[in-house]
Amino acid sequence: MELGDRFEVIFLQGGGSLQFLMVPMNFSCPGDQIDYIDTGSWADKAIRAAQNLDRDLKIIASSANLDRTYVPDLSKIPFRPQAQYLHFCSNNTVVLTQFHSFPDIKIPIIVDMSSDFMSKVISTTNLSCIYAHAQKNVGLSGVTVILIRKEMLAKISDNLPEFLDYRRVRLSLSPTCGEVAQQGADRLNTGGQI
Ligand SMILES: Cc1ncc(COP(=O)(O)O)c(C=O)c1O
Repeated sequence: MELGDRFEVIFLQGGGSLQFLMVPMNFSCPGDQIDYIDTGSWADKAIRAAQNLDRDLKIIASSANLDRTYVPDLSKIPFRPQAQYLHFCSNNTVVLTQFHSFPDIKIPIIVDMSSDFMSKVISTTNLSCIYAHAQKNVGLSGVTVILIRKEMLAKISDNLPEFLDYRRVRLSLSPTCGEVAQQGADRLNTGGQI
C-alpha cells in the first residue's frame, strides 16, 4: 500500500465498530449530507450507527434487493455533490462480495477495509480515509488502523471530545502498544510491510 506522506496513520482501540461513529462525527456536522452504500451486514451496521447522529444520511445504493449477492457499479453511483463523503465497505465479510477498484469522484471516499486490508495491493489514489481492524489480516484484535488523507483533518470540527477527535486522540487514549509492537514484529518476521 503506497501512502507516501499524504496520509496520517493512527492506531486506535475500539475495533472497526467504533469507526462507524468516529467517521461521521469527524467528517460531518449535524445536518450535513453523508452518503452510504449498503452491501452487507457491516455496511448496514455503519449506516445504523451514523443514523443515530443528526445527519442527512442517504443510502444512495444498495444490493439488498438481491440478498446482497453483488456490489453496485461504483462508476454509476448517484452520490450527492454536496455530501461530505461516500462510505462503503470494500469487502463484505459475510456475503463474500468485494469492490475491486475505487472511482475518481468529487466527494471524499471513506472505506471500511476491515476484511481485505493488506490482502492485496490497493491504490489509495481516490481514497480519503481507510479504516480496518487488525484481527483479520494484519494482527491482533484490539488494534484498528486508520489512514486519513491529511487535508481531511482540516475538516474536523473543534467541538468533539479529545478521545473521539482523530487529530487529538493520540493525546487522550492509551495506544494498544503491545499489540501494535507484535503486529510490527510479525510483519518484519515474514518480510512484509505495514
Ligand atoms: C467489514 C467489517 N467491518 C467492521 C467489523 C467490526 O469490527 P470489530 O469487531 O473490530 O468492531 C467487521 C467484523 O468482522 C467487519 O468484517
